[in-house]
Amino acid sequence: MNIIIVSDYEEVSKKAAEFVTDHMKSNPEIVLGLATGSTPEGLYRLIVEEYRAGGLDFSEVKTFNLDEYVGLGPEHRQSYRNYMGRHLFDHVNIDPDNINVPEGLASDPAAHSRRYEREIESCGGIDLQVLGIGRDGHIGFNEPGSSLRSRTRVVVLAAETIEDNARFFASMDEVPRFAISMGLGTISEARHCLMLASGEHKAEAVRECIEGAVTSMVPASVLQMHPQTTVLIDEAAASRLTRKDYYRAVQKGREKIVKLTGKEDVFNADQDG
Ligand code: F6R
Repeated sequence: MNIIIVSDYEEVSKKAAEFVTDHMKSNPEIVLGLATGSTPEGLYRLIVEEYRAGGLDFSEVKTFNLDEYVGLGPEHRQSYRNYMGRHLFDHVNIDPDNINVPEGLASDPAAHSRRYEREIESCGGIDLQVLGIGRDGHIGFNEPGSSLRSRTRVVVLAAETIEDNARFFASMDEVPRFAISMGLGTISEARHCLMLASGEHKAEAVRECIEGAVTSMVPASVLQMHPQTTVLIDEAAASRLTRKDYYRAVQKGREKIVKLTGKEDVFNADQDG
């Protein structure tokens, strides 16, 4: 894992936007895996700004979102499809045919999940997957206990997640209990992963993800097995890491060796360490 610690949420968003736009510029036909939630809002805002400034083209970009609530259609303001429209898709020149979000209203969610997997495969797999992390260590909606090899499927949301989501709904009864989510196996096959986290309330999940054991009890810990994962977090989210100084030293070292060798891609080999 390449761990980058920055000062605050704005810096996380800025660095994440640079990361994503660099990937988009070097591969105009990139297949992006996208996340929703509060964390990537700043990233999407900056991507839209860059697009408006003329620096980005989405015409050949394909996207696959991580998850969607079962029972919510695109018109529902709390659906993830709706979120993506408001934060990104409605503001850029992406071809609607290239947008993929699991369908919350699919009549057969299990069959739809299997189709979603095939669709990812037929696009050649995900080049760059953006991830947030839940307080319980989930990525996508893979709650603790999810198989590390799980695929896109219907999942039951954990009480903690339902509680965290309640603020977006008028009453507890309206908060969805199920979702369709890419699996940990699906996410693990993305060529690059970029996990973002900000705030003290994520510090414990971040520590377990980076420094704990690889276990289905902390689904994000599966990223320790991934060859090309960048974890971009602010000081508050990094506050419980025990090896913070080492991660900072690695970051400085990486910058130095790039300068020394003159090769920007010195760490872009298949193995990121
Ligand atoms: C959303 C998703 C979730 C969120 C996580 C953190 O598509 O997959 O795993 O990334 O729940 O949410 P926020 O960013 O709202 O704290």
